[in-house]
Amino acid sequence: MKMPDPYRIKMTEPIHLVSRSEREAALRDAEYNLFRLHSDVVFIDLLTDSGNGSMSAEQWGAMMTGDESYAGSQSFYRLRDAVQEIFGFPYVLPTHQGRAAEHVFFSSEVKEADVIPSNAHFDTTRANLEWLGAMPMDLPAACAGNPDSDCLFKGNMHISQLATLLKEEGDHIPFVMLTITNNRVAGQPVSMENVSRVSELCKQFQKKMIIDSCRHAENSYLIQQRDPELADLSIKEISRKIFSFADGMLMSAKKDGLCNIGGLIAMRDRDLYERVNQLLILKEGFSTYGGLAGRDLAAMAVGLNEAVQQEYLAHRIGQAEFLLKQLQDRSIPVYTPAGGHAVYVDAGIFLGRKFNFPGQSLAAAVFLEGGVRSCDLGSSMFGGSGFSLELLRLAIPRRTYTESHLTYVADVFAEIARHKDRIPDLHCIYKSPLLGHFTARFANARQAHCAEAGVTNRFPYSPGTGSSSF
Ligand code: F0G
Repeated sequence: MKMPDPYRIKMTEPIHLVSRSEREAALRDAEYNLFRLHSDVVFIDLLTDSGNGSMSAEQWGAMMTGDESYAGSQSFYRLRDAVQEIFGFPYVLPTHQGRAAEHVFFSSEVKEADVIPSNAHFDTTRANLEWLGAMPMDLPAACAGNPDSDCLFKGNMHISQLATLLKEEGDHIPFVMLTITNNRVAGQPVSMENVSRVSELCKQFQKKMIIDSCRHAENSYLIQQRDPELADLSIKEISRKIFSFADGMLMSAKKDGLCNIGGLIAMRDRDLYERVNQLLILKEGFSTYGGLAGRDLAAMAVGLNEAVQQEYLAHRIGQAEFLLKQLQDRSIPVYTPAGGHAVYVDAGIFLGRKFNFPGQSLAAAVFLEGGVRSCDLGSSMFGGSGFSLELLRLAIPRRTYTESHLTYVADVFAEIARHKDRIPDLHCIYKSPLLGHFTARFANARQAHCAEAGVTNRFPYSPGTGSSSF
């Protein structure tokens, strides 16, 4: 018997599907970059799973009693205890979100021309390294590039490539990173065996191993479900085991911290802690608040524990699997298996013809058709870097949408599939050099021509349902 959602809804937030002509106008005003949409025109928001989930009654309760002391906040000590218990690291520093943890840690530990290997760096991790003149290096597993293979741990690091890189570039590698789950590779998990082999290589070459842990609970659940040797362990036990291999972690708590804002740096080594702490105080705030209000620390402490609960994770991963199945039932090409936090549509295959930015063009069409906001994880976000699949990500906010919303999303795709030949090819007319996908502006062929001539937003569109032209 399929179990229902492991919560009941205590507070609601209305959502509205604005008219097609309003969506059309909003898309044009946003210059086809969905990050630039005002959220009130979005009906179902699957842009990200970051910081937009629903907090529990216990988290809201903890927020009311958060300790706002500048130094020595009780909320910090509760958070520190939770981190020590779940991850096993003695030294804990809060940050306001994941990229702040990256910036502070990298500014302390990375120098120009360093090389930082990872199973795949996500956008801000990559950009923070590039900003310091270092070279992020993605080494995804061989099966990562095959959306249909039945490999169970497509998030893994490519071990022989890592060994070669450590041999050849070892002097320039301060540490190795491992991202769990692997957001760049369709939210796929990393196996315990892979964690252990990366750790062996790190020990052999005397490098620190740092885990990007923002979706560690989802990764641990997927290990529990897919690795028969670890099936009897609890999620907490699996996470403790993963982190026992590592020297430290950077975490966006906006994911498996189940809160709206927050991040963490945690580590084993006292000298490392001292070095990072001084920069944290300079850039984020004192060591016991790190850029957060006490109430945010309190919500994080509770959220970290809720995220490792079995029922919660069964439901969470179940939602991604449900959406995947709904899309497959409608013959939409998807990356399989479902990721921990998202379902990734293969936009290249879906569109079936050559596009400049397949994921971006499809995301615009999906918004126009049904008010659903998704995100390109192909050429628009990552340009030419490494892994070449043209994916569109449907990220599922935690504890926020129900199966009825997800079914609607799949229906929107089915509708678009019927007239996908009419989806226009977008051209980029502006992109900032760093993290350009956030600020990019797009136009379709004719608009690009208009923009060159100094005329914008003059392109006529075809209103009415059943059309994906914009
Ligand atoms: N690492 C990974 C693997 C991430 O997915 C993210 C954020 C970060 C670091 C940075 O964390 O947003 O708190 O600064 N990913 C979000 C996403 C934004 O949509 O996947 P942050």
